[in-house]
Amino acid sequence: MGDKSAKSGESQTEATQFGALQIAIDGPAGAGKSTVARRLAESLGYLYIDTGAMYRTATWLARKHNLSLSQADEIAQLAAGSDIVLKPADETSEGRIRVFVNGEEVTMAIRTREITEWASPVSALAPLRTVLVKKQQQLASSGAAVLDGRDIGTVVLPNAGLKIFLTASPDVRARRCLIDLERQGEKANFDELLKAINERDHRDSTRDVSPLTKADDAIEVSTDNLSIDQVVDKLMSLVKSRLQQSTSKSGSPA
Ligand code: DC
Repeated sequence: MGDKSAKSGESQTEATQFGALQIAIDGPAGAGKSTVARRLAESLGYLYIDTGAMYRTATWLARKHNLSLSQADEIAQLAAGSDIVLKPADETSEGRIRVFVNGEEVTMAIRTREITEWASPVSALAPLRTVLVKKQQQLASSGAAVLDGRDIGTVVLPNAGLKIFLTASPDVRARRCLIDLERQGEKANFDELLKAINERDHRDSTRDVSPLTKADDAIEVSTDNLSIDQVVDKLMSLVKSRLQQSTSKSGSPA
């Protein structure tokens, strides 16, 4: 898959200024991962890789080609053979990174409720995970990267320099999803969303392959009572102290 990831931030200079660190941000849907990860990457001048967007795009492709969940190898091959490109967010994308597959823009198409629901069982398919995890590891190999997902700290980057596990209560997450969907012009109901979130959490955290779990060495941050700015500030200070620690240990930035 020829995906390039969103190069967030102004320049590599900032990445050099801050030193390089692989940052893993995991957590359930609606905890605020994508917004926080993107903003953090922008501030640091790091690469931002939205791994959920990659699973959503594979789901969109599988639906387009009428593949069923029993066709795991075909779905994985389809994803492996498709050119998925992630580009930085702009005014057309409501703060989301822009996503293209084989030249077609799917930025908003992968955010519908239908794709959101299908992405959960599709992302549980082992052959697809093998393809996408490998790609994510290649993308992060520059070392100055922020990845968000479910298994970044446990599977994709077990040696990441900083691991964050973002959480929020199901109520808060359902309310955020409601706002997102309404902004996209989709009708949604709070109770239904809450039920769907609880079911998805259960599926994502009990599946056999790469379940959503907090890595032992991840720092848990609840976003319930914090604004986006406050979460970003908190993570930024964790990044800085992690970089200072590695500088004082090795005598040079990580
Ligand atoms: O973060 P998101 O809602 O965009 O993710 C879409 C789906 O992909 C969701 O069901 C969880 C799954 N996912 C995953 O299994 N592993 C990841 N690293 C990222 C997302």
